[in-house]
Amino acid sequence: MLKVVEARDYKDMSRKAANIISAQIILKEDSVLGLATGSTPIGAYETLVHWCDKGDLDFSKVRTVNLDEYVGLPAFHEQSYYYFMRKNLFEKVNIDLSNTHLPDGTNENAEQECKRYHDVIESMGGIDLQLLGIGNNGHIGFNEPADTFANWVHKVELTDSTIEANSRLFNSKEEVPTSAYTMGIGEIMSAKKILIIASGKAKAPIIKEMIEGPVTPQVPASILKFHNDVTLIADKDALSLLSK
Ligand code: F6R
Repeated sequence: MLKVVEARDYKDMSRKAANIISAQIILKEDSVLGLATGSTPIGAYETLVHWCDKGDLDFSKVRTVNLDEYVGLPAFHEQSYYYFMRKNLFEKVNIDLSNTHLPDGTNENAEQECKRYHDVIESMGGIDLQLLGIGNNGHIGFNEPADTFANWVHKVELTDSTIEANSRLFNSKEEVPTSAYTMGIGEIMSAKKILIIASGKAKAPIIKEMIEGPVTPQVPASILKFHNDVTLIADKDALSLLSK
């Protein structure tokens, strides 16, 4: 079941999301959190860092698996997702870095890397809470619109719209990697709980499609309606095109 929670604005969405992540850690101190990068979760991560600083939250036993990583970027590259996670969360909370996992973008053997990362997730017993953002084209992780839903961790060629959207973080569009490793719909849908967050008017059309449109691999996020515990926290702007 998909539950929709309306937030006033980005700050309110971030606090609400942080509350749910925090509750998960309080209830199960060694939770496996599935994490996302991108602009949307930054405020939630900031809030979690703040609560950890105050001593209200303890990451010492938390384990994490990220959704995706660009192929070809080493971990120290400023645009790699590993770098993003270190800067926005891992270096600022008391998490054990050996408990944090991302696909290895430098492994050129895609088959080997996809299997390795899938096995990492399995060996942890699956994901307790998966945090997701949503792309303007409905992608989750880097599961881009396609003719079928890709099951497990795989390598994807990024669509032009995703490369365009992500180029804002690079010096030029040419520098944006053209492929990535991503969890598949299978690992995401196997998470016990899913929390998807969205903010801003630009996301309103895709949020409408995800909620009111049919379940289709052309809008990968639409599959979330088949999960039994998914919460969308979105601000008023992102919900502004919904019919009711
Ligand atoms: C990031 C990820 C992507 C983003 C999506 C939204 O790890 O998997 O699916 O969640 O592209 O990005 P933002 O939040 O920047 O709009």
